[in-house]
This record gives sequence, structure tokens and C-alpha cells, in this order.
Amino acid sequence: MENPKLTNQDKKAQIVIFIVSLLVFAFLIWLIYFKPVPEAQYSWVAYLPFVNAIFNTITAMLLILGYKAIKDGDKKLHKSFMLGAALSSALFLISYITYHHFQGDTKFLAQGTVRYVYFFILITHVLLSIVQVPLIFLTFYHAFRANWSWHKKLAKITFPIWLYVSVTGVLVFIFLRMFN
Ligand code: HEM
Repeated sequence: MENPKLTNQDKKAQIVIFIVSLLVFAFLIWLIYFKPVPEAQYSWVAYLPFVNAIFNTITAMLLILGYKAIKDGDKKLHKSFMLGAALSSALFLISYITYHHFQGDTKFLAQGTVRYVYFFILITHVLLSIVQVPLIFLTFYHAFRANWSWHKKLAKITFPIWLYVSVTGVLVFIFLRMFN
């Protein structure tokens, strides 16, 4: 399908989305690797990785339901599921940030083949989680502007990446619990 030309407003929105995404990325790097861990520790913090895994599971399920809805031609339902997936990802992010406020990164200690599998999953998960942020915003932006050809074009990339990141988020959690 022929994509309509992007308007000046679309281009401005793109710039804002890229700047916001870069700021999110820089903030997370600082939070996980550079921010000093506070002295006060609370027992409930230990449950947050589990909460994160639940939100990632919910996101993955809503994405699949949203995809099925649009393939069945139900646009309203598709919109609701995709907004639900975004809400679930936002709640994940709040829980993730809270956890990393109290805790730095977790070391994976297991050796052997499982270590290679784990790092393959972790590295692809991290790289695609960076890429997915502007993609999600842009896909929503074009949906709300009713730029359907752009929405469809971007959605074909955003959907599999977002799904992969959600599923591998759960896998990283399982690997850390099972093999560490
Ligand atoms: C980032 C979130 C979203 C993703 C990943 C997504 C994904 C998709 C996918 C995979 C398609 C099918 C593309 C194809 O036919 O190959 C699609 C189409 C569509 N989406 Fe979304 N969607 C998202 C958010 C939304 C939202 C919020 C709305 C409503 C405001 C929406 C409305 C639509 C509509 C109306 C179509 C059909 C367009 C057409 O066939 O003309 N989507 N979307």
C-alpha cells in the first residue's frame, strides 16, 4: 500500500518520540548501573521480579489477543487489547524501576550451555527493549492519527518485537530462578 507523506506535525512527533525514548534509555542505564543502592532495604522488594514477570506475561497475552482481534476484523477490540498491553507494560516499568531503585543488576552464576542460552536471551531482550520504546509510541501515534497505512507498516515490526521482549522478560526471570 502507498504510504501517505508524513506531515510536519508527524515529523515533530517523531523527534519528540525519539528524544523521550533516549531519555528513558539513559535513565534506566543510570538506575541499574550507576545509581547508588539505598541503605534501607524492604522485604517486599524481593517479590518485585515476580510481579514484573506477571506483567510481562499479561502484556504478551494481551498482544496476542489484540493481534487475533484485528485479524478477525474487530477494530474496537483490537484497540482495547493494545491499550491494555500498553498499560500492563507501563505497570511493569513502574515495578521494574522500583526494584532497581533498591537493587542493582543480578549476576547469572551458572556455567555451561545454559549460560550461553541465558546470555543470548538477555542480550537480544535488552537490545530489542531499547528499540521497542520508540516503535510502540510511533505505532500508537499513527493509530490515534488514523494514519492506517503507517500504522500497519510499523505494527508489523512493533508487534513481534514487543511480544519477543515480553516473553524473553519472563524467560530471564525463570532462568535466574531455576539455574542461579
Ligand atoms: C503499539 C500498539 C499496536 C500494535 C502493535 C498494533 C498492531 C496491529 C497490527 C499487527 C495490525 C494488522 C496489520 C496488518 O494488517 O498486517 C493492526 C491494524 C490495525 N490497528 Fe493496530 N496495533 C496497535 C495499536 C492500535 C491502536 C491503539 C488502535 C486504535 C486507535 C489500532 C487500530 C488498528 C486498526 C484500525 C487496524 C486496521 C487498519 C486497516 O486495516 O486499515 N491499533 N494493528
